[in-house]
Amino acid sequence: MIWGYPVHINSMRTKGSSMAIELTRLGECAVITIQRKEALNALNYGMLRSINQMLDDVQASDARCLIFYGAGGKAFCAGADISELLDRTVPEEYAGTRLGQSVFSRIESFMLPSIAVVDGYALGGGCELALACTFRLGTANARFGLPEVKLGLVPGYGGTQRLPRLIGVGAALEMLMTGRFVAAEEALRIGLLHKLIDADDPLQHAVAFARTFNHHSLLTLRLVRDAALRGTAVPLHEGLSIEADLSTVSMRSEDGQEGIQAFLAKRTPQFRDR
Ligand code: CAA
Repeated sequence: MIWGYPVHINSMRTKGSSMAIELTRLGECAVITIQRKEALNALNYGMLRSINQMLDDVQASDARCLIFYGAGGKAFCAGADISELLDRTVPEEYAGTRLGQSVFSRIESFMLPSIAVVDGYALGGGCELALACTFRLGTANARFGLPEVKLGLVPGYGGTQRLPRLIGVGAALEMLMTGRFVAAEEALRIGLLHKLIDADDPLQHAVAFARTFNHHSLLTLRLVRDAALRGTAVPLHEGLSIEADLSTVSMRSEDGQEGIQAFLAKRTPQFRDR
């Protein structure tokens, strides 16, 4: 399936006359590209809603992986659109934060694994988008940060929760409280990045990375991801209970039975994602 449709959103409150989020197809991957070069791909509320709509389209497709990319070569995404955060009531600010959280949480638990391809800045909401993805690949140019503290703000799209779970509370607090940017090599070392990729054609590198897992059953990939992610939020005995449930589901699934039969018959399994 090819979408290739750009969604253009106009906003009176945002610098620049138009901005775009584009959904396209590259091999077996759906690609959501943020294209708002003039504001370093900062996300406004309209763009968040567009991403949410695109997830419906991706869900109805036969894509096997979802890639997020920031066009322009300078930024993956420089965060929430700061110009939208002024002069709003507390309920409006709260609703905006909840909108970003819900879209990013949907990405985290989406039926397809996701990859953030970071070439340039991933700051604030941009870093939080990358944190919500299953995998993060970055060029040598990648820079991660949660600089909200410099604006007198607390991150609102999941950064204070997902970053400590990913890199540990100590390292996360240092990033959150200084607002400093972490370059690619350090991001790789502390587990923020999974892999460094060449800047020549980052999307092709991401598609190649997706091929390392996208021949597995999508059902199994989702179950194993759920077990690991849900387990980080509960005590060990509850995590083991989640694992027992999901492991049992996998063994009784069509793909689980197929995988076992294929192993015993010394043939390649034919998974059907159920
Ligand atoms: N929102 C709106 N516009 C932004 C933006 C953002 N998050 N980040 C950059 N821009 C705009 C700039 O205002 C500038 O626009 P003009 O050319 O019209 O002045 C344009 O993008 C280019 O930016 P700079 O001139 O600042 O570029 P630079 O190379 O000098 O600096 C940067 C790059 C270090 C990334 C700097 O732009 C920066 O610090 N951006 C803000 C990063 C930030 O604080 N992000 C957190 C946002 S709040 C948030 O995300 C809350 C949350 O948790 C949801």
